Amino acid sequence: MPLTKHNGFIVLTGTSNIPLAQKIAKILKKQLDEPISFFPDGEIRVRIPNNLRQRDIFIIQPTFPKGNDHVMQLVFMVDAARRASAREITAVVPYFGYSRQDRKEMPRVPISSSVVARMMEEAGANRILTIDIHSEQQQGFTKIPWDNLYGSYALLPLIKSRKLKDLVVASPDSGGVKRATGFSKLLNATGIAIVYKLRDININDKLDTLGFIGEIKGKHVLLVDDMISTGGTIANAANLLKEKGAKSVRVAAVHGLFTGSALQNIAGSAIDEVFITDTVLPSEEVRKHPKITIASVAPLLAEAIRRIRTGESISKDLIL
Ligand code: R5P
Repeated sequence: MPLTKHNGFIVLTGTSNIPLAQKIAKILKKQLDEPISFFPDGEIRVRIPNNLRQRDIFIIQPTFPKGNDHVMQLVFMVDAARRASAREITAVVPYFGYSRQDRKEMPRVPISSSVVARMMEEAGANRILTIDIHSEQQQGFTKIPWDNLYGSYALLPLIKSRKLKDLVVASPDSGGVKRATGFSKLLNATGIAIVYKLRDININDKLDTLGFIGEIKGKHVLLVDDMISTGGTIANAANLLKEKGAKSVRVAAVHGLFTGSALQNIAGSAIDEVFITDTVLPSEEVRKHPKITIASVAPLLAEAIRRIRTGESISKDLIL
């Protein structure tokens, strides 16, 4: 049989979020290969079961939890695919760990996100596909194309289902204004608010307190962020906005890491409800949390994979 340009494609996953990979494979009507096992000493073993020659390979692996282990699984799978003569290898990294270490903010620190991205490129990835990377400049860390999607498209139906009138979209810090503006357009919100850190020199010149700009009194507020780690950022912002008169405060964040006592922080805060996605595998505690609802990014990723294969634009409808 002659080899055609698109001689089939293969979907692989590491171990960090197998349920998400299964959902993506199901939408694409593809078999999902799980090539990871472990040697007796704990080292990662990769063995891809199918012929990869002239095939496009999509390797799905968010790098949380256990970011270091899951990054190594990913680069080993990329290396195996490249050595097996794959045509094009896409590292699909729905949550890209280390992405908050994206600049040299003080002397003698690494730019860890750049190191991780270059490891993927060096191993042989031809493309990186992420969702809500912490800062978009990171796409310049590699020479290969890096497509970044927005989880807002997965979260919108959930938010809209609450039918909130007089909605204000708020960013919990000054870095998230672009995201808040994007959400506010998609939701036809009545306004935007920005919470910012303010150094209160009268009390203590080392203490950060919060201030905000915007009209939130009597309004439903949607706080939007890329991720929830300890929950401190959103809990503090929500407490402030409620104290200043917001009618309700909901949170929409793409990546739910929920480290440390995040779940307790959220439970004890003024937050009414939290919407997250499954870029990171939600634990049972997260799934059962009374304030948390989860939307899947599987349809978004499956559609992006389909368009990457057919050469269609992915900026249309998938990127803000
Ligand atoms: C910060 O720049 C990020 O966008 C998040 O706001 C932050 O990383 C969330 O972390 P935490 O939940 O620990 O406050």
